[in-house]
Amino acid sequence: MTHTRLSGRAAGRIVVLLVAVLLASVAGPAAAAPDPGTLSPPDPYLPALGNRGIDVQDYDLSIAYEPGSGTLRGDTTLTIRALRRLTSFHLDLTGMNVHRLTVDGARARSSRAEGELIVQPSKPIARGTKFEVRVRYLGLPEPSLIPGIRLANGWIPTSDGAVTLDEPDGSNHWFPSNDHPSDKATFTFRLNVPTPLVAVANGSLQERSDADGRSIWVWSDPAPMATYLAQVAIGDLVIDDRPAVGDVAIRNVYSPSVSDDATDAADETPAMLEFFTGWFGEFPFDVYGILVPVEGLSGLAFEAQTLSTFAPDALNSSIVAHELAHQWFGDWVSPAAWDETWLNEGFATYGQWLWEEHALGVPIEANVGLARSHVNRDLDTATDDPGIDQMFGVATYERGALVLHALRGELGDEAFRAFLAEYLDRFGWKSASTEDFIEVASEVADADLEPFLRPWLGPGPLPVLSPSRSVGTT
Ligand code: TRP
Ligand code: ZN
Repeated sequence: MTHTRLSGRAAGRIVVLLVAVLLASVAGPAAAAPDPGTLSPPDPYLPALGNRGIDVQDYDLSIAYEPGSGTLRGDTTLTIRALRRLTSFHLDLTGMNVHRLTVDGARARSSRAEGELIVQPSKPIARGTKFEVRVRYLGLPEPSLIPGIRLANGWIPTSDGAVTLDEPDGSNHWFPSNDHPSDKATFTFRLNVPTPLVAVANGSLQERSDADGRSIWVWSDPAPMATYLAQVAIGDLVIDDRPAVGDVAIRNVYSPSVSDDATDAADETPAMLEFFTGWFGEFPFDVYGILVPVEGLSGLAFEAQTLSTFAPDALNSSIVAHELAHQWFGDWVSPAAWDETWLNEGFATYGQWLWEEHALGVPIEANVGLARSHVNRDLDTATDDPGIDQMFGVATYERGALVLHALRGELGDEAFRAFLAEYLDRFGWKSASTEDFIEVASEVADADLEPFLRPWLGPGPLPVLSPSRSVGTT
């Protein structure tokens, strides 16, 4: 990832981080050179994803789409830093026909393996070098399936366009990438579609041009982003720009046929932003809004960075709050690997409970009690290692939220807020693991909280809540 194009607010945070890193390196022993093998995957659940030895800093994606035939023509430039000397390297790419590939402008050889594009530059790339890979490709994107949920993922054609849904492994079905949440990068999307279709993506609209029956929409997000959060929608869509909330620009995007429900949901954004800012601190990105296509996802919602995406039947206040909470937990702080989804879903579910208590009058104890009863039906699943088919299951969402509620009870509200602030501050723009979570909690408690948190994480029976916050049903 690169920090050079971050907003002032974001840059301020980075400066604080940098100072901390500098102080640490002055104070501590000379750090050994990091082993590139420890910097990236293989992922325990999706070992084909991600690639050791490279750090993608920027994706510049040009995509021309033909809604009639479903053909996608892609021209992607990746700016990459070599983490080791590279004679060849892999990018993740499933399907699609690569017809031209260059490394720093020179033609490079490539081959394909299951889910991989293997690049052989004409000469080795020295460790630490920054280089550009340009991939031109064409094809009908093949869908992927969301583990456990078994719904289509990736680039999904709709009757008038397309919508993407990428968690956890859909991105590499429509652009070549280092498709792992441990490698964040900045993104620019140049979407070429037949006029008058609308094309949107994460971030802010930079420019739009029309020529010869085609429109090119350029969107970019200056904040580093995990690949699975990349969001594109093409179709008959309305872009609804709203007044900024503080420093956060607001734009919503929806299909005209659902505009009443979408505008009602969007009306809640300012109050929700204010509420979550009170709990989690300043909103991490420059822009936010909801995206509501009519087709493509049914019953689901997804926390695309700066542009949470909703099926029309998932547009209720609770889910809208859940996806907004994800912007801090999931997007700003991403999971270090795919066995850590509870760090996304547990926090987002807890954020949802906080909102439901605040705005809908649902006492948090009611959600805690309900979650306990659901978790009690499946005590064999560990929150921090649920297995790929349960990565979006009860242990991840509800048991994950119970872990946080238990931690809050143990710490008390003031220290719990200090924990949230420290966790976000330390891992914002980056990725975190359960180990990191336990470490921050223990630091704030000034005690080793692993023995307290382990039984909550499971597997095994849920502990009884501490008396101060007990709802007492097991
Ligand atoms: N992260 C989503 C949520 O907010 C759930 C989810 C996982 C999802 N993969 C998806 C939604 C793919 C839509 C498409 O809980
Ligand atoms: Zn979620």
